[in-house]
Amino acid sequence: MQKIVIGNWKMHKTVTETESYLHQLFHQIHQTSLWVGIAPPFTALEHAANRAKGSWLHIGAQNLHDELQGSFTGEISSRMLTEAGASFVIVGHSERRHRMHESDELIHKKLVRSLSEGLQPVLCIGETALERQAHRVEEVLERQLSTALKTLTPEQASTVWIAYEPVWAIGSGAAASSCDVAKVTHWCRNYLRKLIGVDSLKLLYGGSVTSNNSEVLFKETHIDGVLVGGISLDSNHFAELIQRVERIK
Ligand code: PGA
Repeated sequence: MQKIVIGNWKMHKTVTETESYLHQLFHQIHQTSLWVGIAPPFTALEHAANRAKGSWLHIGAQNLHDELQGSFTGEISSRMLTEAGASFVIVGHSERRHRMHESDELIHKKLVRSLSEGLQPVLCIGETALERQAHRVEEVLERQLSTALKTLTPEQASTVWIAYEPVWAIGSGAAASSCDVAKVTHWCRNYLRKLIGVDSLKLLYGGSVTSNNSEVLFKETHIDGVLVGGISLDSNHFAELIQRVERIK
């Protein structure tokens, strides 16, 4: 199984900063057996994609609009992303769900759009701290998954990568325990088997992942990959994470 490592830069790095980051990263990592991606901001996407062409690194986007074109000031379409060189896209990140008020329905439409445009979607799901305290984790994930994947054929749904990112673990320095992640990923696979008849989807974990805790997470849970924010902003830390994950048997 090819392990996946994706860096989400959020609203960080100009084109110049992207250039020096990638220069250092390619100096540190010449090749890898992992599937590694970085999602820079839109302005740096094309530059990063050109820089990564022919290398081991995939470049993707952090968001997309559900329509192909139109009067949507400030938005970006899937076609603009693919032409700029994006091969994957993060859909439904909790910062967009909560801060930009993206609904499950809208996330579903974005997922459909990314698939029809040939972008590999990374669908983020996860509960808030309050929802966890209220023992509503499964109810929340069920709602997020069933709405996002509705109308997709089992073939389409099986190609979606799902990132379990508990909101309370993102940027907090307190990752979910491997026990919690194992429980949720086990539940997800069972639920997806019931929902679409497939349980072989790629499942990632995100939320305060470091090169230290990644080892335990990969060994003690059934995740296929990690989605990292903070750690991906420093090329040394990101390179170290890639090397550590690569060594996990
Ligand atoms: P973090 O972010 O690694 O900084 O917690 C993860 C994410 O937002 O995807």
